[in-house]
Amino acid sequence: MEVVVVMCLVAAVLDGRAMGDLPPPHASYKILMLLPASSMSHKNVLAPLAEGLAERGHEVVMLSCQRNILHHPNITEIRYDPVRHDKPTTVASKFNYRNNLAGAFAQLKEILPAVARELYKAPSVMQLYHRRKEFDLIILDHMFNEMAYPFVHEVPFITVATPGMDARQSAVLGNVLSPSYVPNLWKGYPLPLSLRHRLENTAWHLFISFYWRWWAVVPRIQEEVRGHCTALYRPV
Ligand SMILES: *[C@@H]1O[C@H](CO)[C@@H](O)[C@H](O)[C@H]1NC(C)=O
Repeated sequence: MEVVVVMCLVAAVLDGRAMGDLPPPHASYKILMLLPASSMSHKNVLAPLAEGLAERGHEVVMLSCQRNILHHPNITEIRYDPVRHDKPTTVASKFNYRNNLAGAFAQLKEILPAVARELYKAPSVMQLYHRRKEFDLIILDHMFNEMAYPFVHEVPFITVATPGMDARQSAVLGNVLSPSYVPNLWKGYPLPLSLRHRLENTAWHLFISFYWRWWAVVPRIQEEVRGHCTALYRPV
């Protein structure tokens, strides 16, 4: 649901004419955009949204690991520097790395916890974390950014999922999607799903959730975050 709202917002923001026609907002809001684990392509998608919101008089703070590209008086960019374990050194290794999707995917279980470690070590990030309740809204880059979940605990937030809805994260955020009609992000099927595709799709849903959330990735990220966001991980 939140994705639909954002898509409409993005469409309105990207369409200059539509923006011209919108009545001015009732109030100026403070909006925090979080893209801690992101490539430049993620930032390029979210930057026009930030600019559109800023032009409408909202105050936007954007956290990412990419260089600053926004020069708008109502936008503050905060950049932290993650250690890049993933950087292939030569052009040839870059191509090999990209051809080997399984290898690149498997590396994420090393890269993402390392990025989480650097993220919560950065004083500018921790300052922002402690100020997070000052914002009226947090906008979260959906893909690969579970490490930012501590920021959105008990605050209004929207996730932007440009590759499509990730059923695994959707379930974690309280909206469980049925594998009988929602394809997974990794493999598409002709719709409506046949019985065989439903079974296959269900197996993918279960496998990805198990691998990512319970086995390889999220537990390691949680381990990195635990020491820093103590309020959130206090034993109950
Ligand atoms: C910045 O926000 C203010 C309101 O907070 C608005 O009046 C102004 O037009 C915005 N600046 C730009 C350059 O869009």
